[in-house]
Amino acid sequence: MLADSLISLIGRTPIVRLSKLSPKDVNIYVKLEYLNPTGSHKDRIALYMIKDAVDKGLLKPGGRLVEASSGNTAISVAWLSALLGFKAILVVNENISTNKMNAIKALGGEVVLAPYVPAEHPQSKYSVAKRISENLNIPYMNQMGNEANVRAHYETTGPEILEDLKGEVDYLVMGIGTCGTIAGVGKYLKDRLGGRVRVVGVVPRGSKVKHGVSSEDGDYIEGLVTEYIPEIFLRYRDLIDTIVEVGYEDAAKTVAKVVRYEGILGGPSTGANIYASIKIGEELSSRGVKVNIVTLAPDSLFKYPQLINDIAGYI
Ligand SMILES: Cc1ncc(COP(=O)(O)O)c(C=O)c1O
Repeated sequence: MLADSLISLIGRTPIVRLSKLSPKDVNIYVKLEYLNPTGSHKDRIALYMIKDAVDKGLLKPGGRLVEASSGNTAISVAWLSALLGFKAILVVNENISTNKMNAIKALGGEVVLAPYVPAEHPQSKYSVAKRISENLNIPYMNQMGNEANVRAHYETTGPEILEDLKGEVDYLVMGIGTCGTIAGVGKYLKDRLGGRVRVVGVVPRGSKVKHGVSSEDGDYIEGLVTEYIPEIFLRYRDLIDTIVEVGYEDAAKTVAKVVRYEGILGGPSTGANIYASIKIGEELSSRGVKVNIVTLAPDSLFKYPQLINDIAGYI
């Protein structure tokens, strides 16, 4: 395959069936989003959010933009900005790993540190990014509320799933971070397939999205919401039929199983997605119901050096 540009390699990721871990009469399909150019589904939304800012005249050639993210979105936005000739300012939590910070800098991104405090706090990365946007008069990507995030998945991830599975989808199971993926894919599948599809959100144990309040001893699964209720969730919550909680240890143990038995090298949120999919599949299988469940592997195990060490102890 000869690619004109790396940007053309965003999306069209393959879907594989779990051949060993799918319960009887159930097919669990996993879309390998870690095969996007920077290793996560966030390449899709970075492209949509940047294009949206350009289309709205907020971002001019060579211009600057700002985003708040310590994770995959920061890498995707820095990478795409470098390719498209923009200058990205990334506001990150000050406990970010040196590796991630240096990756952002290597891509030409400017890093601004913010303390790890609740989103509403004036010093949070979100508040800092918003202030930078206002002070410098540059666009704030705001993945937590930006409709371009949802649109990226409505126009690309959703259609890819429907086409590859030939319309045979009964369940979508996806972790909620910004809520962009589950909202975009969930809406697309429901628009096309109607009531046949059930949309299941996955959050870490004790998440505020599930309980309305944050739990003191809740779990942390990178990329998924614990304390914050994303704006996109508030707009699209009616699309989500059920929200299930997954503990970190169950997610990590599932990563180990999926690596060992299926060869899928996903990160912790992949483990959470597949853990929830297997539970749902087992319950339906025990009642003799045949279904197709689709979920995503948002990013790769190789982004989590500690998890690689941890899973060695699980098998
Ligand atoms: C690794 C990982 N998994 C899952 C998610 C959740 O995706 P979304 O933000 O579309 O809800 C994210 C989002 O940051 C993520 O980084």
